Amino acid sequence: MPSNPKKSKAHPGHVVLREVQPDDLPVLFAFESVPAWCAMAMVKPRTNTKFESVWAKIFEDWDNGLTNVFQKTIVVDNEVCGTIGCRLLGDRHEIGYGLGQAFWGRGIASRALGLLLDQVPMRPLYATAAATNAASIRVLEKHGFVIESRRTSPETERNLPCEEVVMVLNKRQS
Ligand SMILES: CC(C)(COP(=O)(O)OP(=O)(O)OC[C@H]1O[C@@H](n2cnc3c(N)ncnc32)[C@H](O)[C@@H]1OP(=O)(O)O)[C@@H](O)C(=O)NCCC(=O)NCCS
Repeated sequence: MPSNPKKSKAHPGHVVLREVQPDDLPVLFAFESVPAWCAMAMVKPRTNTKFESVWAKIFEDWDNGLTNVFQKTIVVDNEVCGTIGCRLLGDRHEIGYGLGQAFWGRGIASRALGLLLDQVPMRPLYATAAATNAASIRVLEKHGFVIESRRTSPETERNLPCEEVVMVLNKRQS
């Protein structure tokens, strides 16, 4: 159920992206620990220790002036509802995002991605999604991403094996 059932896709609420604060981390960890979240993203749940070590490295890199990770907290109507960002992986800038389950289906990810694309000038941008993750693929398509390729993604420490699509946005949208 949406946290506020009166909100709809046309009116998701007031969505903003802001700096990630340490207090956001327990909330974000709780979001991604829900089995339905993991099933949609085709990832395995990770421990809080692992989650915190990943974020400790990101904060340390930011303190050292590194900009490989551009990551924001998504806030809707003053409530933390998820995270979205762009990371340099190899030579590719890759978009990723996730919302707490209570916030799905209100158009928040679509709005958040629009805000992120305004803040991130690099192109091309890439994103990968499990081929079964129709909502994520739709969010990307609405912002001009197109499917560049499909591949079989092997099981890793984090990922479940799956068919995935690689999506690319080549130009800035007008
Ligand atoms: C994927 C996710 C970010 C989508 O967030 P959201 O705020 O619910 O997305 P939006 O409401 O902005 O848009 C979803 C779109 O997908 C569509 N959609 C949802 N489920 C769908 C389905 N099963 N088949 C086809 N389209 C679907 C919606 O209708 C909507 O499109 P529309 O605006 O044209 O109607 C959210 O479900 C999530 O956090 N999932 C867990 C983590 C995850 O999968 N992250 C992405 C990893 S690649």
